[in-house]
Amino acid sequence: MGSTSVPALAVLAPGEMGAAIAARLSACGVSTILTNLDGRSEMTLERARASNMQHASYTEIVQRATCIYSVVPPKDAFALAETILAAYKTAESQHPLIFVDCNALNPESMKRMAVLFDGSGITLIDAVIIGTPPSATFNPGIYASADPKNVSTLDSFTRMSIQFGLNVIPLKGEGAGIGDASAVKMSHSGIVKGAIGLFTTMILAANAASPSTASGLLHALNHSQPAMVDLILRLLPHALPKAYRFVGEMEEVGGFAGGSGANTFEGIASIFSLVADSQSEGGVVAGVLLEFVKQAKEMREKESTSAVDKIQKS
Ligand SMILES: *[C@@H]1O[C@H](CO)[C@@H](O)[C@H](O)[C@H]1NC(C)=O
Ligand SMILES: *[C@@H]1O[C@H](CO)[C@@H](O)[C@H](O)[C@H]1NC(C)=O
Repeated sequence: MGSTSVPALAVLAPGEMGAAIAARLSACGVSTILTNLDGRSEMTLERARASNMQHASYTEIVQRATCIYSVVPPKDAFALAETILAAYKTAESQHPLIFVDCNALNPESMKRMAVLFDGSGITLIDAVIIGTPPSATFNPGIYASADPKNVSTLDSFTRMSIQFGLNVIPLKGEGAGIGDASAVKMSHSGIVKGAIGLFTTMILAANAASPSTASGLLHALNHSQPAMVDLILRLLPHALPKAYRFVGEMEEVGGFAGGSGANTFEGIASIFSLVADSQSEGGVVAGVLLEFVKQAKEMREKESTSAVDKIQKS
């Protein structure tokens, strides 16, 4: 995997994130990006073609690729790791292979995956993607960690990924190992989505006191913590349709945090569950939250027009 030769890589599977990663690798000079398209929909085939991905069997993938990026829904991550391992063991020839699990698994699951690959010839890298898929204007952070014995593989993986356009940040130093990248994802998600859960809880509580209490809360936040109003505007509208997905994620975060952190996230999971149920039942709870966002937006718009007025008058 020297920096002069261009390696063959694999990205499994060509979902929205996987295809966007493949497209970036391709745009940055990787000419062979393998994937497996067995049983996939016409839409997925089209997405794979658009990202310059080529179909290959798992046997071909483990024989030709030097590095496999696994980008699948968390529930499929283990099965894919097992499929790759089985294909590798039965292949005619084996070269050193890197398997990068990029999925939102908890650190315990990653440690189980490390046991699966132990002594197999496949080196596991624990990675997580923070942010939306790569685009012309955005490159998500890919945090990566490995077993201390595999630090040099982590280094060459990092160099290669950066060379081909990915934003990989390795976690190294004291105590770093498999599970740490996953722990970054858990902690990050606990802070960002936990904050959304807290905003949601208190907006609903204020509104339950009375709708004018909710308006008063908005005024008070704007007065004392305007940056929080901006956060609510930026995060809350996108979070509402995904609330059902956050329930399980917050339960995972609670398991990771442990102790009283577990109780905190149990509560946050149940508030997201309330929001998700409300959306499927006509949306009273979601309606309250959207009304708050609407008022916050109107407040910001009024401020920016009055700022323009001031400039024009001066
Ligand atoms: C990664 O570490 C494992 C032991 O933890 C070892 O068996 C394997 O050879 C290492 N891989 C590389 C490429 O050094
Ligand atoms: C919100 O805060 C800004 C900055 O302190 C202030 O100029 C604006 O008048 C406030 N908006 C309302 C509706 O109070």
